[in-house]
Amino acid sequence: MTQSHTTKPGTAVVTGASSGIGKVYAERLAARGYDLVLVARRKERLKEIADELRERHPVKAEALVADLSTPDGLSAVRERLSTDASVSLLVNNAGFSALKPLTQTPDETVASMIALNVTALTALSRAALIAFKGRNAGTIVNIGSGAGFSPYPDIPVYGATKAYVFLFTQSLQHEVEGTAVRIQLVLPGAVVSEGWDVAGGAALEPLPESIVMTTEDCVDAALSGLDQGETITAPSLHDASLLSDYVDRSGQLLQAMFDAKPAERYRSGR
Ligand SMILES: NC(=O)c1ccc[n+]([C@@H]2O[C@H](COP(=O)([O-])OP(=O)(O)OC[C@H]3O[C@@H](n4cnc5c(N)ncnc54)[C@H](OP(=O)(O)O)[C@@H]3O)[C@@H](O)[C@H]2O)c1
Repeated sequence: MTQSHTTKPGTAVVTGASSGIGKVYAERLAARGYDLVLVARRKERLKEIADELRERHPVKAEALVADLSTPDGLSAVRERLSTDASVSLLVNNAGFSALKPLTQTPDETVASMIALNVTALTALSRAALIAFKGRNAGTIVNIGSGAGFSPYPDIPVYGATKAYVFLFTQSLQHEVEGTAVRIQLVLPGAVVSEGWDVAGGAALEPLPESIVMTTEDCVDAALSGLDQGETITAPSLHDASLLSDYVDRSGQLLQAMFDAKPAERYRSGR
C-alpha cells in the first residue's frame, strides 16, 4: 500500500542506511512519505543521502551518526527509539560479515560482528518494542539472511548471527500477537552490495549473475511482503512452501525433544 502525502506514516529509523539494502530502504520509505532517521558510521554519506531525500520528497531526513557496535552509539539510537513518539518503523538492517574461517578471523572482528548483528539488533528491537507496545502501533523489520539456515565454514560467526535473528524475530512475533504491532523478518539471499567487499568477498570469484539480486529488487520484494502482511519474507525464494515447511518442522522438532526418557537408541547398553 502506498501512503499518500496527506497521511504521514510517521518516522522510520533505518540502521545501515549509508549503503546497500539500507540506503534503498531509506529511498523507498521516503517515497512512501516517511520522515527518516538514517543511522550508520559514515557521516558524509549519510548527510548526502539525507539531503537528496529531502530534495526529492516532502519529508524530513536526518543523519544519526552512530557506531552500533559500541555502547555509546547504541545508546544514542536506543534513546531516540524510546523518546521520539513519531517513530513508527524500525528497520534493523546494519550488519556485516567476514568471509573467513574462525581461526583466521581476528577476535575484534568476531566481537564487533556479534555486537552489531546480534547485540545491537536485540537492544534496538527491545527499545522499539517497548515504545510500540505502549502505543499499540509500529513495525519492526529485522534483516536476517539465507546464510542463517545452514552451516558454512567460511562464515561461521556471520551465519550464526543470522540464525539468531531468525529465531529471535520469530519469538518477538509471538510477543506481539493480539496487538497492532507488527514484526517482519526479511531473509535476503545474495544481494549486490558493498557488504561483499566488507566481508572480503571481492577477492573471490564473482557469484553468477543468475543468483545475485539487486538491492532495489530485494527491498521492493521485502516491502511487498510487508504490504501483504507477511511475517517472514524471503525475496528470492520462489517456492515459499520450503520456508513454511521448515518453520513447521522446526516447531515439531522442538515438541518432539521434550521427553523424560532417553531415546531408544541410547538405551541399548542398560
Ligand atoms: N548483501 C547480501 O548478500 C546480504 C544477504 C543477506 C543479508 N544481508 C544483510 O543485509 C544487511 C545490509 O547489508 P548490505 O548487503 O546492504 O551491506 P552494506 O552495503 O555493507 O551495508 C551495511 C550497512 O551497515 C552499516 N554499518 C556497518 N557497521 C556498522 C556499525 N558498526 N554501526 C552502524 N552501522 C554500521 C554500514 O554503514 P557504515 O559503514 O557507514 O557504518 C552500511 O550502511 C546486513 O544485515 C546483511 O547481513 C545482506
